[in-house]
This record gives sequence, C-alpha cells and structure tokens, in this order.
Amino acid sequence: MTSDDVLVAPSVLSADFTRLQEELDDVRGADLLHFDVMDGHFVPNLSFGVAIAQQVRRSSSLPLDVHLMVENPEEVVPWFLEAGADVVTFHWEAQTHAERLVDLIHRSGVKAGVALNPATPVCCLESIIDELDLVLVMTVNPGFGGQGFVEGCHRKLRQLTGMCRDHGVEPLIEVDGGIKAANASQVVRDGARVLVAGSAVFSGDRARNVEDIRREARRGLQRSV
Ligand code: DX5
Ligand code: ZN
Repeated sequence: MTSDDVLVAPSVLSADFTRLQEELDDVRGADLLHFDVMDGHFVPNLSFGVAIAQQVRRSSSLPLDVHLMVENPEEVVPWFLEAGADVVTFHWEAQTHAERLVDLIHRSGVKAGVALNPATPVCCLESIIDELDLVLVMTVNPGFGGQGFVEGCHRKLRQLTGMCRDHGVEPLIEVDGGIKAANASQVVRDGARVLVAGSAVFSGDRARNVEDIRREARRGLQRSV
C-alpha cells in the first residue's frame, strides 16, 4: 500500500448480509474491504466479530481493513490478527499503551492504524505518528453507517497532513463516515488516501459507485499539493 494513488474501501457494515457473497463480488474492483467491529460499549451499536471476519476473508480477495470500535483493544486486537486481517486499526480514545499495541500488530506482519473520533485532536498522535502505517480520521461520530460528514474534519485532515510532513512520514490517511463521490476529491486534497464508504457503495450499482468515488477521489489527487 502506498499513497501514490487513492484506495477505495467499501464498508461491509452497509452490505445486505442475506446475500453477502454477491455483495463482496460486486465490490471486487475496490482496493480494501473495511470491516467495522462494534462492541456496544465504545459505540452504541453491535456489529460483527471474528467468525464473520474469517468468512469475509475467505470470500473476498481484497485486503481486510479491520476497524475496532471496542473498549478493550488490547484483548481484541490478537483475535483479528489471528483472523487474517491485513490492517488493524484501534481507537486512540480506547487504549492506554498505544505503542505496545502497535508493536503487537507489527510483530504479526500486519499494518497498524490508530483512529481518532471527530472530537479528538490530531496532536494526540505526536508521540506515535512515526510508528503508524495508517491514521483513520473519523468523519462522523462512530457507531452507524449513513450519517452526514462532519465538516470540521477538512481542517483536521490538513492539520494531520502537516504533522506528517513535519515528521517526514507518510502513513496512509483514511477517512471514514459520510464519504461519497461528491466529497471524495476534497478529502483527497486535504491529504486522505483511503476512502471508506458504506451507504454510498451499497445501494444501486455497487461496482459503479466504487468507480465514481475513485474517479472523483483521483481528481483531488491531481489538485492536491
Ligand atoms: C461508522 C463506521 C463506518 C461506516 C461508514 O462508525 O466506522 O465505517 O460503515 O458508513 P457510511 O459511509 O455510510 O457513513
Ligand atoms: Zn469504520
């Protein structure tokens, strides 16, 4: 994974689970599969766990991008390393020893990410940014698909991009929540390179939705500095 291009990551949370294999087939032209794990504590919702992750892993050739919205990432991270995740992202707000968790993920040969809720400032990452493969900027308050993009996140993305530049590092910047073709180029101009989209992908023509988001995102790439 590099930041030379944009990556589109459909969020399985918005798929029709009664026909999951078809849904996965329909988005095979995407770059990653985003897998939201919710525990009913860190966020006010429950989603799915390890057994479904393993099935999704087997049923799609796309890399599995696991987003852990759980209160106890120290306990949960190893489960998803075992399940075959390619990227594991935990929330800054949920952990107490981020460096240890990042080390644990790296020792399994897996990419490590940290997620920030909309209200969590970018400066929290000063001490750990050099170690990260990915930073996930939540562009809605986590817990549900189909919410509106929090507009203040554009500024936050630019702050994060500036911090990475200052540190001389290039973790992938991922945005998650309210992403659609209409705002794809702007978030890429702000520095995002991985675009998660749930409701904007899993309605109507899924393959075309992925392509529409990618096309708009690439326009942002041409214009980003
Ligand atoms: C929200 C999840 C997202 C969600 C995005 O807490 O982390 O991944 O599926 O859904 P949309 O794209 O519909 O906002
Ligand atoms: Zn997510």
